[in-house]
Amino acid sequence: MADTILVTGGAGYIGSHTTLALLEAGYEVVVLDNLHNGSSTSLDRVARLAGKPATFIKGDIRDRALLDELFASHSISAVLHFAGLKAVGESVREPLRYYENNVSGTVTLCQAMAHAGVFRLVFSSSATVYGEPSQMPISETFPTGVPTNPYGRSKLMVEELLKDLAASEPRWNIALLRYFNPVGAHASGLLGENPNGTPNNLLPYMSQVAVGKLEKLSVYGADYPTVDGTGVRDYIHVVDLADGHLKALQAMATRDGVNVWNLGTGIGYSVLQMIQAFELASGRPLPYQLVARRPGDIAECWSDASLAAKELGWKAQRGLAEMMADTWRWQSANPLGYAD
Ligand code: NAD
Ligand code: UFG
Repeated sequence: MADTILVTGGAGYIGSHTTLALLEAGYEVVVLDNLHNGSSTSLDRVARLAGKPATFIKGDIRDRALLDELFASHSISAVLHFAGLKAVGESVREPLRYYENNVSGTVTLCQAMAHAGVFRLVFSSSATVYGEPSQMPISETFPTGVPTNPYGRSKLMVEELLKDLAASEPRWNIALLRYFNPVGAHASGLLGENPNGTPNNLLPYMSQVAVGKLEKLSVYGADYPTVDGTGVRDYIHVVDLADGHLKALQAMATRDGVNVWNLGTGIGYSVLQMIQAFELASGRPLPYQLVARRPGDIAECWSDASLAAKELGWKAQRGLAEMMADTWRWQSANPLGYAD
């Protein structure tokens, strides 16, 4: 019988793409999502693309009774844990919400997992846990640093608590996946990122400028010590990222304890390079202005992706042109996102 995977946050951006990849690979999937920032429409579309649905449970990872019932009624072999809040600015204004949701929520989830005898967990971490490294590219051997905001600190805290947990009980089998900058959308144009309100991240902001929802892009800082003065990041296509989760899940079957893997492409692009690539893909000019640096941003951040290549047999396949074309297809076909 196929393994059943619990995907927390499976109605969100990365979770929905990963749910699709799991279903396509033959897994059974149970999604738990409170729909705070996700949409059940995304799961309807996942079902359409996969030809079969995931089981959807609307609920919260902080609800222990619900989790106990979920684990009792489904034979879960592993948990992919995407559920969490992710808006950096909001985390500065409302830190307790972030710690409660991201940190306490993970504690409750792990308690319920242990109670149910489920010990395999894949956690959505972030390159933000490296802080501001003095050298590029960033490899997993780099020490973790000081994230510049409560969101980032919540990710680092969860990493630390998961390491403590694994040290206390050898049955825990945990992957910490440190994502670089997820972008793009499913090639069908049916799944993509559906930000609430004005987007904070570069790609959703650029797409909304291109469709005329926003007037122009502000480029935060043109005086960084980078190729053209603007910030450099390692953008990774969300479908490649989803595939990385499947590869991690497979690799964990033969590994113990905690494993850390960067999920990035190993290539950095500047904001101006991103603008140019987006204009090319969309065929539209992208108005922008150069403004002051955004507090908390670092100059550059890209991954050494060789460990995942070696240990997972995973390498990102999709380049910048594809990331832009897929983002644009999603944005033009769904100007209001999932609109629910
Ligand atoms: P998202 O907001 O689209 O998805 C998160 C999902 O979790 C949403 O559907 C939301 O409704 C759900 N959720 C939030 N709190 C919940 C709770 N308490 N109980 C149940 N469901 C809850 O975000 P995403 O971009 O898909 O990110 C997924 C994960 O990856 C997050 O943990 C995020 O911090 C992490 N991550 C994202 C990025 C990025 O740039 N997108 C980068 C690094 C790490
Ligand atoms: N940028 C702009 N204008 C914008 C938005 C972004 O110039 O309107 C620039 C930023 O200054 C940065 C680059 O575009 O140089 C990327 O910015 P994003 O906000 O898209 O992404 P970040 O690298 O700042 O942050 C992302 C995730 C965080 C995660 C972090 C570290 O949003 O959750 O990567 O991996 F913590």
